[in-house]
Amino acid sequence: MLITIEGIDGSGKSTLVARLRRLLDDLDPIFTREPGATWVGESVRRAIAERMDPITEALLFCADHAAHTDTLIRPALDAGRLVISDRYSDSRFAYQPVVLDGLLPDPLLWLRQIHAGWSIRPDLTFLLILPVRDAIERFDPAKKREYFENAGILARVQESYLSLAESDPARFIIVDALLPEEEIARFVADEIRMNARSSRRRPRA
Ligand code: TMP
Repeated sequence: MLITIEGIDGSGKSTLVARLRRLLDDLDPIFTREPGATWVGESVRRAIAERMDPITEALLFCADHAAHTDTLIRPALDAGRLVISDRYSDSRFAYQPVVLDGLLPDPLLWLRQIHAGWSIRPDLTFLLILPVRDAIERFDPAKKREYFENAGILARVQESYLSLAESDPARFIIVDALLPEEEIARFVADEIRMNARSSRRRPRA
């Protein structure tokens, strides 16, 4: 079963994942992330840091996803493992249309077409939502801000995430990221357990 965790920068994904490691230890999940589960992710980080043109950047994120899917996600799912990914294809569908706006006639359609036929649809996606100003307050002031860590961009990214969730309500679970960390983690862990139990009863499509 493939579970993904999504949300804007500062939404608390990393803290949630750290807690899930502890709470779901008995299920022996594979924790992974995008970008960066393979060496391709290093070129993506470099592209973000150096502000490559948005098409190059989008294609690098897609390449990272392809390598991630091929080397880790697909083999783990075929082996019947529970996989939990910190960011996945919805990150592309939420972030890149904002950056590609004006450069392509329909950036989301373009991105969906690039993923069609090989990417694996998550079984369940947790989307952490919070006011953008709260997300920005959580940034470490000592660290250099990445390009995406900007209020205007994050507000648009969050809007894209919400419309993705609206168009696929059976897959998305929206989580209030302002709730106490432990409460969020317990809720998410319980949902994963419930779904893992019912997915064992039905074969994977
Ligand atoms: P991270 O902070 O979760 O490691 O992600 C790095 C940045 O890359 C973050 O600002 C979100 C952005 N990103 C995209 O724009 N598109 C993508 O497909 C992914 C996976 C991340």
